[in-house]
Amino acid sequence: MVREIVASAPGKVNLHLGVGEARTDGYHDLVSVFHAVDRREVVRLLLDGDPVAGPAVESMHTTFFVDEPDEDIDGPNNLAWRAVEAVVARAGVAVPRVRIEVDKHVFVAGGMAGGSADAAAALVAANALVAQFGEPLPDEALHEIAASLGADVPFSLMGGTALGTGRGDELVEMLSRGRLHWVFINPKIGINTSGAFSLLDDLRHGNPALVPHLDATELSQALTSGDVARVAAALHNDLEAPALSMRPVLKRVLGVAAEAGRRAVVSGSGPTVAVLCDDANAARFAAEHLAEQFDGYEVFVAEGPDHGAVVGKVG
Ligand code: C5P
Repeated sequence: MVREIVASAPGKVNLHLGVGEARTDGYHDLVSVFHAVDRREVVRLLLDGDPVAGPAVESMHTTFFVDEPDEDIDGPNNLAWRAVEAVVARAGVAVPRVRIEVDKHVFVAGGMAGGSADAAAALVAANALVAQFGEPLPDEALHEIAASLGADVPFSLMGGTALGTGRGDELVEMLSRGRLHWVFINPKIGINTSGAFSLLDDLRHGNPALVPHLDATELSQALTSGDVARVAAALHNDLEAPALSMRPVLKRVLGVAAEAGRRAVVSGSGPTVAVLCDDANAARFAAEHLAEQFDGYEVFVAEGPDHGAVVGKVG
């Protein structure tokens, strides 16, 4: 029996994020183009003893390769913890108790779906665990559990580049040509996703210019053309307005970042800024420049599209 299962899942940036009306379930309808990047979260399940019925998770520990949040995130509310329990319960298979270890490489509350990537990696790891002692869940069941954990989790499972509608969890793979090279810079103070969405609703009341951008056709054509300049010009994020309003420093970050690369946008609900560059070298130079300009901010390069959640050694 394997005593350790390792899995990983990608961080993401939204190449397009159009936010429609607020729905009665507390969510907003989206037209989102998700793009997975090769900055990946790693989740390990360490098995302890013989199979037992009941809750599977014994404990969890996160190791931070990015800034650590003030609060302790290692508990039963953590999406990775919930993902493991949900898979084991749905499969109805007795498994040994597990300790979850997460290596966190994606910013916390940064708008790159790091928590969702933890959940997605935990889902595939838990399914590999179940497979050792019984029948694993089919893909549709994993997708259903993913959607119940959060709107971004299904995409973290899938990876690549995808159009997301509904809450962002109805996904269709998109064609794209070539690789996109990015710098990500994080001004540290995280943004609460729910807060960003509701601030957008408020801002729209006073500003008719903040209309929902629900047409991603130009971006889709740009992606298939493989022309980075065209992709850069087509990037759009409706949540940029609330992010700028919540973190005014982002205006300067976006300005300097746009000079350093081809185009800079806020990633998801922010505050991470994603800078699209012409190639890997340009991204490295831009990253060095941004790290000098913004002392203390975290900066890394990444490229996409990257694959979704998988079991197996990383890197
Ligand atoms: O699904 P998740 O927990 O990641 O979403 C966090 C919050 O972001 C939701 O509670 C909701 O307030 C907001 N959200 C939204 N519309 C979406 C996705 C997220 O309003 N499509």
